[in-house]
Amino acid sequence: MLTSIRTPLVVLLSLSLSVVNARLPDGRVHGNIPPSPAVPKITADDGPLTSISGATLPPINTTYYFDQLIDHTNPKLGTFKQRYWHTWEWYEEGGPIILFTPGEANADGYTGYLVNRTINGQIAQQQKGATIVLEHRFYGTSNPLPDLSLKSLKYHTIQQAIDDLDYFANNVKLAMPGGDKVKPNVNNPWILVGGSYSGALTGWTMVNKPDLFRAGYASSAVVEAITDFWGYFEPIREFMPQNCSADVEAVITHIDQIFTSGSPAEINAIKANFGLSNLTHLDDVAGALRNNLWDWQSLSPATGVEGTFFQFCDALEVKDGAVASASGWGLDHALSAWGAFWTSSYLNLLCGKNDVESCLGSYNPNEDYFTDTSIDNSGRSWTWIVCNEVGFYQEGAPTDVPTLVTRLVQPVYDERQCNYWFPGAFGNNPTPQPNVNRINTAYHGWNMKVDRLFFANGHRDPWREATTSANGSPAVSTSSEPIGISDGFHCSDLSTTNGKVDSTVLAVQQQALKSIQGWLADFKPTNRSSHQPHRRSEDEEREEKRRVLRFERERSVV
Ligand SMILES: *[C@@H]1O[C@H](CO)[C@@H](O)[C@H](O)[C@H]1NC(C)=O
Ligand SMILES: *[C@@H]1O[C@H](CO)[C@@H](O)[C@H](O)[C@H]1NC(C)=O
Ligand SMILES: *[C@@H]1O[C@H](CO)[C@@H](O)[C@H](O)[C@H]1NC(C)=O
Ligand SMILES: *[C@@H]1O[C@H](CO)[C@@H](O)[C@H](O)[C@H]1NC(C)=O
Ligand SMILES: *[C@@H]1O[C@H](CO)[C@@H](O)[C@H](O)[C@H]1NC(C)=O
Repeated sequence: MLTSIRTPLVVLLSLSLSVVNARLPDGRVHGNIPPSPAVPKITADDGPLTSISGATLPPINTTYYFDQLIDHTNPKLGTFKQRYWHTWEWYEEGGPIILFTPGEANADGYTGYLVNRTINGQIAQQQKGATIVLEHRFYGTSNPLPDLSLKSLKYHTIQQAIDDLDYFANNVKLAMPGGDKVKPNVNNPWILVGGSYSGALTGWTMVNKPDLFRAGYASSAVVEAITDFWGYFEPIREFMPQNCSADVEAVITHIDQIFTSGSPAEINAIKANFGLSNLTHLDDVAGALRNNLWDWQSLSPATGVEGTFFQFCDALEVKDGAVASASGWGLDHALSAWGAFWTSSYLNLLCGKNDVESCLGSYNPNEDYFTDTSIDNSGRSWTWIVCNEVGFYQEGAPTDVPTLVTRLVQPVYDERQCNYWFPGAFGNNPTPQPNVNRINTAYHGWNMKVDRLFFANGHRDPWREATTSANGSPAVSTSSEPIGISDGFHCSDLSTTNGKVDSTVLAVQQQALKSIQGWLADFKPTNRSSHQPHRRSEDEEREEKRRVLRFERERSVV
């Protein structure tokens, strides 16, 4: 039964993605390019269609368009249409406007971040606020210019994205009663919410625009830009089954040794073991094995130990019905079991019918994914930020730390590819480095000190080592900048469902809601007359209902 349902789905998927890989989970654009730290997609049901004041709300996925400046340093260049979604289920006049961007993704299908399926909606529900999901420039259809060529990408910087949030908050006219009078601080407190890259953007924006947002909530926020981000694999190593990490480490150590000093026969035997005989470059072969670890990123408390990551560990650790002790089965079994996992299913899952060179090779500058400059290609847009500003290359650990990942893959491996993606952008430098120092200096990274910003992190988040909960981070939790850490994975605390299944996630969410309640309690709009709290008379109530109805009729939705 299950199989017969699944088959057409698989066919559909591989058709739509046939140009590149058969399977590109969690932001992976290619089998040897690190995934972006994308925010999990959460979609709302069509309802609720009624606000608490009884007004009819537009369908939850109604798309609105904001005229955003192409270039904040030169407004004369004009505007582009930036997409957003918005609802006001819980809104009362003067309540907070909760702004969220999913960051480096097409924002379609993120409507869950409008309702109480997410922390965003929970904040709105508690504080009588309205919610907005804004598509980030250069993702989905929100493009300053109609392609992703170098000429266009020059407007794709973190600072332009920060300026977008400022210009949006100060100029948007929301399709709700009083929605043309929601100026930050003048009329309403605005709260910025983000996860992962957009979590970092939340912090960076509050550093850069200290008087714009009254409060912020930053989940798994990768605030410190890091070029050699080998620390990505550290939370995985800490929390994956010990037998599995012991065996992965043994296999990788062996492969690195053979690939560095083994005979051609020994090298070919390793390649064949994984079905990768046709993959030319050894760093591509060893680097491709990172995919099994990247599968960790899509885990959540709600999925528990389901998922491809655990299928992988089971494949290594369960032998003839027996389970390995904490030290694993050792190199011989692990190497052949890992190989069998690849050749029997995983390689097909990853590459489908594509040959391994186009699926996992990184040395052909003519591959589509390097050359395609059409819009709505989040991989390309994100890689631009990676190559220029944040790095986050996910490589082998330094030699004094155990590694789950080949040391043949170092930042130069990824930096070389920046030239294939963006020929001419980096002059003659064969391995251009991202300017992480500039980002960490401009926006303060782990050292950021801003008022009323809540950090929500997860012990098991592979991005933890770039957040304020990283081992190397000097950040400490304070009442104006609290750091709540749960047993969650990546951005787990954004989801209400995760809070229901994991009490540590729930505790972080409750701590955040409490902080935000306190931070809003002493908020005073500068236009005080518009926010005189008073009881409405029955006449005023009736007039308000009429106003809402009139508004509904007149509302022009693009
Ligand atoms: C909203 O969702 C409905 C049902 O999923 C779909 O038919 C419709 O096209 C969507 N509208 C927009 C504007 O995305
Ligand atoms: C979430 O919102 C819905 C209405 O949209 C409401 O029925 C439900 O009770 C809310 N959930 C919680 C936990 O408050
Ligand atoms: C390797 O490439 C050759 C020639 O293109 C092809 O015939 C062969 O099937 C490939 N081997 C594998 C294991 O994919
Ligand atoms: C060994 O591996 C199995 C299968 O992945 C896992 O369920 C178990 O927790 C592991 N045990 C230890 C001690 O690591
Ligand atoms: C300030 O509040 C008054 C009274 O509600 C309103 O008429 C006016 O437009 C508001 N000014 C701004 C800048 O929102």
